[in-house]
Amino acid sequence: MKYIFKIFRFDPEKDKEPYFQEYEYDFLPSISILEALITIRDEVDSSLSFRYSCRGAVCGSCGMIINGNPDLACRVKLETLYPDEIVIEPLANFEILKDLIVDMGPFWKAYREIRPYLHTKNKPPEKEHRISEKAMEKIYPFVNCILCACCYSACPVVSKDENYLGPAALAKLYRFVKDPRDHRPYSFLKRINTQEGAWGCHTIFKCVEACPKEVRPVDGIEGLRRKLIIEKIKRLLRFRK
Ligand code: SF4
Ligand code: SF4
Ligand code: FES
Repeated sequence: MKYIFKIFRFDPEKDKEPYFQEYEYDFLPSISILEALITIRDEVDSSLSFRYSCRGAVCGSCGMIINGNPDLACRVKLETLYPDEIVIEPLANFEILKDLIVDMGPFWKAYREIRPYLHTKNKPPEKEHRISEKAMEKIYPFVNCILCACCYSACPVVSKDENYLGPAALAKLYRFVKDPRDHRPYSFLKRINTQEGAWGCHTIFKCVEACPKEVRPVDGIEGLRRKLIIEKIKRLLRFRK
């Protein structure tokens, strides 16, 4: 079946302005956008640049805007789209390095800031840090994040404030705050008790719509807000005694 792709192109070494390039090609409707892009690159235009790795919605590297929606190119099948014009753009809220490749630096910076690993107070156990199934159930919805940045690209607050940590980092922090094995001190949460942290979110749910792994970052952000309020009340009560 004939498909028309309109793909965002920009090579900072050659182009003054970005532009859209059209490619018309026969594809099987059952293939993914990523497979179509690989075919275009291999058979039509070897200069077309994009990121991918696993091809199975696991690595998070093929995030891009497909007909206006952030998604994983390896997850979206051609048969779910109209063939007369499929518009592919790089993720929004990032600097473009080349074509569909963006500079993920700000996303990783935010992620590093929340220190996404267990902060324990005891010596490491001989084997693993155990957690009950019940406690695991509470954090499980956030464990599925593959760091594709689709939510970050969809977030209107990120587009206005480059210091806002963004939905993925905040949701990941909530995953650790809810983990009974994590004992990070309250002082650690100061960074998110700000407009660039948990209070910056406008609860517009764009991140929930955009997430290809059904993580609900906004639920994590709400959870962090509850935690901050509870901690504040506890501190006030302690101060009064
Ligand atoms: S709900 Fe909050 S974090 Fe999610 S997209 Fe909206 S403003 Fe961004
Ligand atoms: S929360 Fe969802 S959209 Fe955001 S980075 Fe993780 S998997 Fe991607
Ligand atoms: S190629 Fe890994 S998520 Fe798409």
